[in-house]
Order: sequence, then structure tokens, then C-alpha cells
Amino acid sequence: MCSCDQCCGWSEEQASVVHNGLRPPWCGRSRRVGSRRHEKLGAHLTKSVGGPMSRSWRRRRETGPVGLRVGRRRVRREPQAPPSMAGNVFGDTLPLAVRYAELLSSAGVERGLLGPREAERIWDRHLLNCAGVASLVPPESVACDVGSGAGLPGLVVAILRPDVRMILLDPLLRRTRFLEECVSELSLPNVAVQRGRAEELAGQLAVDVVLARAVAPLERLATWTLPLLRPGGQLLAMKGDAARAELAGVESALRKLGADHWELLKLSVRDLGQQTFVVRVSVGVPAGVHRRGSRQPGGG
Ligand SMILES: C[S@@+](CC[C@H](N)C(=O)[O-])C[C@H]1O[C@@H](n2cnc3c(N)ncnc32)[C@H](O)[C@@H]1O
Repeated sequence: MCSCDQCCGWSEEQASVVHNGLRPPWCGRSRRVGSRRHEKLGAHLTKSVGGPMSRSWRRRRETGPVGLRVGRRRVRREPQAPPSMAGNVFGDTLPLAVRYAELLSSAGVERGLLGPREAERIWDRHLLNCAGVASLVPPESVACDVGSGAGLPGLVVAILRPDVRMILLDPLLRRTRFLEECVSELSLPNVAVQRGRAEELAGQLAVDVVLARAVAPLERLATWTLPLLRPGGQLLAMKGDAARAELAGVESALRKLGADHWELLKLSVRDLGQQTFVVRVSVGVPAGVHRRGSRQPGGG
């Protein structure tokens, strides 16, 4: 395992295979890691999932970054214009959010990562809806958006919170490719993309916060994600109107999984006329270990 305390505990093998030798941008160690064997293995895996040798890959290389072309067709759907409140929510980062909305509404829709009608409600239903959770993420933390899909809520949080280091996790290659293209297009140094399933990363990933929207029922989500949290970490699960009933039904399961506190939070973006619920589940801190940000006994 990498000894750098910035890299979220990625193993050498994982960093080599998943990122083809690249560590997340914030890792304190050299970005290219691993032996020649690892790099070859990474290249081989890319090839076997329709990578460098495939026609679609060559076409993507030829057509450049995300959003302009799909195959031979040039398709562009007009995204919803940013509502006036978007400026209040995103502040200086609004141009990045606008560009991300364009990418979602063009390539995101064309590649089937969002439904065809989502472009018309990209701000209300996606960007502004996800923005609410950003304020719940503790400062300077490492977060993982599990089941990120097209980057929701992870990319929105990463845009709003440059102090947060964000891992976007999804098992599907076409989604991680889109995410990588967005990260590069938006030049976000605080984001890394990882392909994989949450339940396969227990013991390899240790983060302060897991974010998730529309990924799995709460009990399954907690089973997958609580093992990815550092002591004192928290799961922030964005849920719909049935959140209260769902939480009530899984309390004993949460206890068995090591959760020590859970609560339902209601987020409302001013003027949006929408409510989003977030279930916050915190995992316990073993005796003798101090919560991130807490003072050491006797410390100043
Ligand atoms: C309905 S989509 C939601 C995407 C995004 N969070 C959003 O709100 O638009 C569910 C996502 O979860 C991912 N997913 C499914 N099972 C997963 C698992 N075991 N670990 C991580 N991601 C998973 C899927 O690939 C998909 O991208």
C-alpha cells in the first residue's frame, strides 16, 4: 500500500491497474508508479475492454474531447439556461458549472448517461440539487462519490469545494471515460476517477466522506460503503421523499455495520421549490483514536 497519507490508501497494484500507473493528482508521491509489469498489465486491461485498438476508441481520439461529436453525427441539445440563483450558489465557480452542464447535456445525454429529457432540467434537477450536499462535507476532507454515474453529486461538490479531494467511483467503463473527460475539460486538480465497485474496495480505500445519490437502497448502500470510511467518517446518502421511512427500517442494520449515529437532514435550495433529503450516517471512532479535526488531549 502506498505510504503517502494523501492517496486514500490505494494499493500500488490498484493505482497501477486502475490508473495505468497514475496516482490521484493530490498524491504526495511521484505520479507515475509501479513496475513495468504493472504498466503493461494496465495497458492490457484497457485493451481487453475495447480500449486502444477498438474503432470507437480511435474515433474518440479523432473527435477530441467530450461533447462535440458522437460517431459521425453532430448532435447538440440545448441545456437549460442557468437560473439566476445559480450565480448565488456557485459564485466564482459558475463558469465551471455552466461548462459541466453543457457536457452533461451534450455528451452525457448522447452517450446515455442521462435521459434524453434531462438536458431541459439539468440545473434544477441535477446541478442545484447536488449543490446542497456540498456544505455538509467537512473542510479539507477526502471524499468518494460512490456510483457517480455522470458525476453527480461528486463533480458538483468538487467544483464548489476545491479544498475537498474527490474520488469519482463507478464500475462502468463508459461512465468512467466520460468522467475522465469532464475532469480534464474542467481542469479539476482535486478529482480522481476510479473504476470499480464499492463493495470490492473495502480495505483498499479509506475516506472521510462517502457521497451517493440514487445508487442503492440504504441498507445495501451502507453495507457497501461504511467499510470505506475512516474512523469518524460519514456517509451522506441523497434520498427522495421516502428517506424517513427507509432510515427507520434499517436502524438495527446500521448499528450492526458499526454506525454510531444517523440522522435525516432536509436540504432546500432557496427559490428552487424542491426538497432533498440526506441521510447522514457516522461511523464510530475506536477508543484511543481521535476524530479528524478534534484536539488531542493535552494539545494546544
Ligand atoms: C442510477 S445511477 C446514479 C448516478 C448518479 N449518482 C446520479 O445521481 O445521477 C447508479 C450508478 O451506480 C453505479 N453502481 C451500481 N452498482 C455499484 C456498485 N456496487 N459500486 C459503485 N457504483 C455502483 C452504476 O454504475 C450507476 O452509475
